[in-house]
Amino acid sequence: MTAPTPSPESRAASPGSPVRVAAPTGASTPAPTPGGAPSLDSPIVRRLRDADPIPEITKLLHRAYAAQVAMGLAPLAGRQDDATTARRCNSGECYVATLKDTTHPRGERIVGIILFHEEEPDQGPPWFQQPHVDSFSQFAVDTNLQGRGIGQILLDTVERRARECGSTELALSMADPDTALKNFYLKRGYRFVEFWKWPYTNYTSAILSKTL
Ligand SMILES: CC(C)(COP(=O)(O)OP(=O)(O)OC[C@H]1O[C@@H](n2cnc3c(N)ncnc32)[C@H](O)[C@@H]1OP(=O)(O)O)[C@@H](O)C(=O)NCCC(=O)NCCS
Repeated sequence: MTAPTPSPESRAASPGSPVRVAAPTGASTPAPTPGGAPSLDSPIVRRLRDADPIPEITKLLHRAYAAQVAMGLAPLAGRQDDATTARRCNSGECYVATLKDTTHPRGERIVGIILFHEEEPDQGPPWFQQPHVDSFSQFAVDTNLQGRGIGQILLDTVERRARECGSTELALSMADPDTALKNFYLKRGYRFVEFWKWPYTNYTSAILSKTL
């Protein structure tokens, strides 16, 4: 079952221009990568573009979700192939966080991702079916840059989009056994609403939601 769809007017209002965000705490001078000291700027959040490299994003997702995999969990984002990444990214509004990187062929590196309003092929939890509820998924920040506030600016982006779409709740599905991750969301105003079992995972998911 699909997630509730915002009105066409709301979708038309979707911002396509990149948002330059303040450098996250501790990230104004990001740590140099091993073997060099590339010049890294503040993160920029923008919509995913057709030219963006799906395989790089798949690898980023696999790295970010490796900790859950090590816990014995099987999140889709931790094992999905490039075709699945592409399908999912095109099934909603996909945002990426990028950092300027003078050593990278494109001059920037994708370091985080979040998917607003994914249209799932599988039936979703009852909470997601309500017209005032929107959702996000496929949320990750590359492992070497976690804990610097990049996740927060991606969250801020989808919370803003949900408000613009007229939603009063923003929800997500997460692996219930990942207690530390749940605390991350609870600290940011999300609350538990129900359990759900997706057909493609080996764990029970917790559906969390935040009143906007
Ligand atoms: C969750 C995630 C996107 C957050 O991104 P981030 O850039 O690290 O987030 P921020 O820097 O804005 O916030 C850092 C805070 O989150 C905590 N945190 C970061 N990753 C965490 C994780 N995997 N589990 C629990 N807490 C985490 C940090 O300790 C820090 O806590 P504090 O604010 O209370 O001090 C990122 O950690 C990640 O990619 N995790 C793996 C994939 C995942 O679980 N995605 C969510 C699926 S629902």
